[in-house]
Amino acid sequence: MNKELMTKRIAENLEHLKQFTATPNKGCTRLPFTKEARQAADYLKTIMKEAGLEVKEDEAGNVFGFIYGSDTSLPCVMMGSHFDSVVNGGDYDGIAGVICAIEVARQLKNTNPKRTFVAAAFCDEEGMRFGTGYFGSGAILGNRTPEYCRTFTDKNDVSIYDAMLEYGLDPEKIENAKWKDNSIGYFIEAHIEQGPVLHAENTQIGLVDCIVGIDRYMVTVHGRSDHAGTTPMNMRLDAVDAATKVISKIADWARETDDGSVATVGYIKTIPGGMNIVAEACEFTVDIRSRNIENLEKISAKLHDALEHEVKAMGGSFDIQNKLAITPVNLDKSMLHMMEESCKNHNFSYRYMHSGAGHDALEIGQVIPTAMLFVPSKDGRSHCMVEHTEYSHFGNAALIMTELAEKLTSN
Ligand code: GLV
Ligand code: MN
Ligand code: MN
Repeated sequence: MNKELMTKRIAENLEHLKQFTATPNKGCTRLPFTKEARQAADYLKTIMKEAGLEVKEDEAGNVFGFIYGSDTSLPCVMMGSHFDSVVNGGDYDGIAGVICAIEVARQLKNTNPKRTFVAAAFCDEEGMRFGTGYFGSGAILGNRTPEYCRTFTDKNDVSIYDAMLEYGLDPEKIENAKWKDNSIGYFIEAHIEQGPVLHAENTQIGLVDCIVGIDRYMVTVHGRSDHAGTTPMNMRLDAVDAATKVISKIADWARETDDGSVATVGYIKTIPGGMNIVAEACEFTVDIRSRNIENLEKISAKLHDALEHEVKAMGGSFDIQNKLAITPVNLDKSMLHMMEESCKNHNFSYRYMHSGAGHDALEIGQVIPTAMLFVPSKDGRSHCMVEHTEYSHFGNAALIMTELAEKLTSN
């Protein structure tokens, strides 16, 4: 294996993919079922073919590249990540793991694997557009239905269903994206850390032993629009007043757990949104994460109680839509151990760590033995355009993952 050559190819592909953004010079904005997603998917297909993989796009918009093993009756080894991004995000979140998987496939081609190896590029991991998440990885497990696609909409009220149609997919066929039970033996994913630990410690590889669980909500508080000057304070139904009373408590509920649980209100919208209008409605998102499922439940319960209380006091009403509920997952110890051995053999510094970010490995790890590795993010910055990782780290990741995949595909 020539790590320098692997690194060079990974760098070239990631540089090429940088152009597929809706916000040139303002980071990567590659939302699902958009022109930029289509351009990236098409490019991935091209480089998969060039690497000698057999290529398939499924009914969920995922792209797969296959290296067939000598015994196709055995459950395959799948490696991948996602090719969508957040708004104004970095150039490596997700897509670097896809490019590493294609590089691993290229290496495996020469080893006559017994099991089939599949490089996977998943559609809509972030949930940025529809507030959901893990769309493509959920679809391969059979967790997505036409009804699901109709239920969730973006900020312009476009449903997943309609966005898929526009992209050239048939949402009525989404269930065909499910892989047969026991057809995937192992899932492995390489990703940037997106946090500060590895960079601060100057550690090359993170071996991920646990990924947090996540609950996501879209809340709408309904009040009544009125004149901001003439409506006395005790005669108004101010949606923003009630909503912000709830919002102001959410971060503290997470802090009170004192175990690393986090809660974020990342989006707030007032309707109609005028300086001199009492708001008729206020929408906001809540994203709660914890390694401890009881904390997810506790914070969610507090959110519901506070909404009941504050909205009743205001005199309006509220809707709350659960967009994602996924439990924390422990990753596969024996695969982590194999990666640890590789790190030792190559003299890579490494540590075990948990992931506060969600990943396709979180969805898939619920049901299939899964392992993940991280490489450092400069200053821990991510989900912003300054996100950066040196290409040499992706070469390290591809090397460790190739050795793991060789072991997994050989028996
Ligand atoms: C995805 O990166 C997430 O953790 O939300
Ligand atoms: Mn990611
Ligand atoms: Mn992300």
